Amino acid sequence: MASPLDGIRTIAELPIENKRVFIRVDFNVPLEDGKITDDSRIREALPTIKHAIERGARVILASHLGRPKPGKTKGLSLEPCGLRLAELLGIEVHMPEESVGDAPKKVIFDLRAGQVCLLENLRFHPEEEKDDDAFAQQLADLAEVYVDDAFGAVHRAHASVHATAKLFRERGCGMLLEKEIKALGGLLIGPEQPYVAVLGGAKVSDKIAVVEALLERVDALIIGGAMANTFLAAKGYNMQASLVEVDKLALARTLLEKAGKKKVDVLLPVDLVTAASLAASEGKLVDASAVPENTMALDIGPRSVAEFAKRIAKAKTVFWNGPMGLFEKKPFSSGTFGLAQALADSSAFTVVGGGDSAAAVHAAGGDLASKMGHISTGGGASLELIEGKKLPGIEVLRT
Ligand code: 3PG
Repeated sequence: MASPLDGIRTIAELPIENKRVFIRVDFNVPLEDGKITDDSRIREALPTIKHAIERGARVILASHLGRPKPGKTKGLSLEPCGLRLAELLGIEVHMPEESVGDAPKKVIFDLRAGQVCLLENLRFHPEEEKDDDAFAQQLADLAEVYVDDAFGAVHRAHASVHATAKLFRERGCGMLLEKEIKALGGLLIGPEQPYVAVLGGAKVSDKIAVVEALLERVDALIIGGAMANTFLAAKGYNMQASLVEVDKLALARTLLEKAGKKKVDVLLPVDLVTAASLAASEGKLVDASAVPENTMALDIGPRSVAEFAKRIAKAKTVFWNGPMGLFEKKPFSSGTFGLAQALADSSAFTVVGGGDSAAAVHAAGGDLASKMGHISTGGGASLELIEGKKLPGIEVLRT
């Protein structure tokens, strides 16, 4: 494939003037007591929404929020997102109480050019997650043009990102999705070498497929976070009370052997910050080979950060997904923030996979975020794209 965007029209190429345009966004933002704690995903959707408004589209926004159980909608209304969006846009955002049926139809058919409405949480209808054709048709009946800008959801074959899109002749991607596909898809086609990937987070089991895929492409694989415990244990280290996936030890050994055969360097932590429990208010710096009894590794140490940073400094492309430790707690944040700094200092094209790693870059403060080549809004979606999987919400846009 010459470009990861082959066959996909962008919103700029779609005839949206004065049309009812269905824009699938990912407003699946974190909420605490009904308040949005991070509105990045709403902000990231603004360029597409503003573009549509400026061209006189009648804008219909749709999203999921959380994972509501059948019949349980409490706390998962998109209303806080609509209110935030209205503040950011400085215009009214109409909010029908439903995503399909007469209520949204009435609001939508009254919209004038440049006006915006946000449908209620799509997942209040179980048909959404079933990629149900009848539900998809109900959504499609609301609009004349389809735009997907919900990168975080393109790995889901759900109605609003898949079955609905198929029903439109005029369909394409928004500006955020375009940027995400270019940055992450670009890592699959000829990334500039040396290419270094950094993986962290809790579980090896979540990342097996992505490790396997990366071993085909990278020069070095850096592993930190609790995931590194399993690899260190596989090499014979006693990790004491640390989180180790015992049933994945053999797999970790196989992955290390594979890396050796492919001449991919695997860098594991050489020092760790340990504590007796997750609630500890301070940690103890130890050698990775000397984790004290009854303690667990909760961060990587400064020597590991320095080793990882040295390798990152030599890279031309870096992909990072997953924190190096329990960064949400101060005594265990230095490893993750140090790694974020190393990426910010590097002259490589740096791509941060969404979810926790994106949150860590923002939490690290300073202007680290602005120094990254690309920070993805997608967690699972970014990993699946990096694996080289064909994602339903992207493939359906190709014509
Ligand atoms: C995300 O937060 O990764 C996306 O919004 C997808 O949400 P989901 O994992 O609940 O499908």
